[in-house]
Amino acid sequence: MPTSPRILAPLLLALVLPAAASAADGNPAKGRRTFAAQCAACHATTADNRITGPALLGVAGRTAGTLDGFAFSDAMKKSALTWDAPTLDKYLAAPTTVVPGTTMALAVPNAATRADLIAFLNTLTPAAPAPPAPAAPAK
Ligand code: HEC
Repeated sequence: MPTSPRILAPLLLALVLPAAASAADGNPAKGRRTFAAQCAACHATTADNRITGPALLGVAGRTAGTLDGFAFSDAMKKSALTWDAPTLDKYLAAPTTVVPGTTMALAVPNAATRADLIAFLNTLTPAAPAPPAPAAPAK
């Protein structure tokens, strides 16, 4: 194929660079602090749903919009997404773009902040209980 490496190299870089800020690089302790500040008002890190947001215990690997007992938007229920790290990263960067019609509007524009958040979300597994949940504001 005649494609020149000079054309390919920037393309490859463009593919590799966003992936570089993946959850693998995230700092879960920093993510926990960001979660407390930006997410805990709506989301519990335990198995409890809030009226404002679905429980995020075990969110890693979960199919979007499937948690029992939370009134997800139709958009989320039909999204057919699985919450792996790249999908979480895209959703948190632009929720209403990735799932048009989602009722979660908060975006996290900073890639490093998202990586930290995702690293924290990955610690929320039922097998290894989360560190004490960040304090949520009183309802
Ligand atoms: C103002 C309330 C609110 C805030 C703040 C908020 N969320 Fe949400 N979140 C929601 C709602 C509501 C949904 C369900 C959206 C839907 O059904 O379309 C949701 C859904 C999600 C989901 C998908 C859960 C599932 O089971 O499908 C993830 C992951 C998530 N939020 C992560 C976060 C993170 C991380 C933050 C902090 C950066 C955050 N959210 C901040 C309200 C919020």
